Amino acid sequence: MKKLLASTIVCSALIIGTLDSAVAANKITIKFSHVVAENTPKGKMANRFKSLLEQRVGERVEVDIYPNSQLFGDNKVLQAMLLGDVQIAAPTLSKFSRYTKKLQLFDLPFLFKDMEAVERFQSSDQGRSLLKSMERKGLIGLGYLHNGMKQLSANDPLRIPQDANGKKFRIMSSDVLQAQFEAVKAVPLKKPFSEVFTLLQTKAIDGQENTWSNIYSKKFHEVQPYITESNHGLVDYMVVTSVEFWQQLDNELRREIKQAMDEAIQFGNQVALEKSVSDRQAILDSKRSELITITDSQRQLWIDAVQPVWKQFESQIGNALIEAAVQSNTP
Ligand code: LMR
Repeated sequence: MKKLLASTIVCSALIIGTLDSAVAANKITIKFSHVVAENTPKGKMANRFKSLLEQRVGERVEVDIYPNSQLFGDNKVLQAMLLGDVQIAAPTLSKFSRYTKKLQLFDLPFLFKDMEAVERFQSSDQGRSLLKSMERKGLIGLGYLHNGMKQLSANDPLRIPQDANGKKFRIMSSDVLQAQFEAVKAVPLKKPFSEVFTLLQTKAIDGQENTWSNIYSKKFHEVQPYITESNHGLVDYMVVTSVEFWQQLDNELRREIKQAMDEAIQFGNQVALEKSVSDRQAILDSKRSELITITDSQRQLWIDAVQPVWKQFESQIGNALIEAAVQSNTP
């Protein structure tokens, strides 16, 4: 009898062990690669996504997050995604032009007057439709995430467009942003986010454009004596995955991932709102960089100087999308 009991226990242990290893073997790993620090809207969104999803279906999936360009820079991450080497990324909307020209809309200078207008557009039918604009190229948009409006920083004060003449500015890999700086006779240089601090520190470039959160979290203000509060453009993100990864998931896991991502994005947008105030204040308190405010007439000079960029990219973006975005400025 004792022998029978002992062998039953051994067999059960073997079966449980086999089942555990089978479940473990089927556990999915989601690699989430991004280029910013953890204490940023995108960094906090990613960590919140991980904790929500692993709390709910941790026996089936684990999320490994790689911040600060540790795994891929934004110039490689989408190719890596299509090869299956990373499952989630959230590049800035400026960085998708190899897959669709429509998202160049978000780079048009002075298009959106504030983040409320951006939110209205992104939540509209036209905005939601852009999440599907790359599916034929293998990429699915899971949602938009905010960061904020861009400010201009430089080694000299920038008050009017002429102040930018001949100066070298780092830009994201975007033809619209290249045209924007060329319109004010500046010299745009497409460089990865991870190189910006050193380029500024060594004076290889004179200035850059980015949000308060990205300037503060990467300490650009410590190597840029002047920041012009221009609010001239946008850094927002599209959270993407590959069609291939998404389609091989079962319905339950797809639903749980989408739900966790929706909640994480909601949290990240709240962080973006808070950091656009707190990181701006932290920069001012540091006294490392002088805030340059511009008058309405000075601002109009910048608007007039870069307006031709809209026309230049209208055929690629589509006039209807531009019109819809302009309409979103009216509540
Ligand atoms: C940049 O390259 O300046 C930004 O896209 C970085 C980021 O992801 O916010």
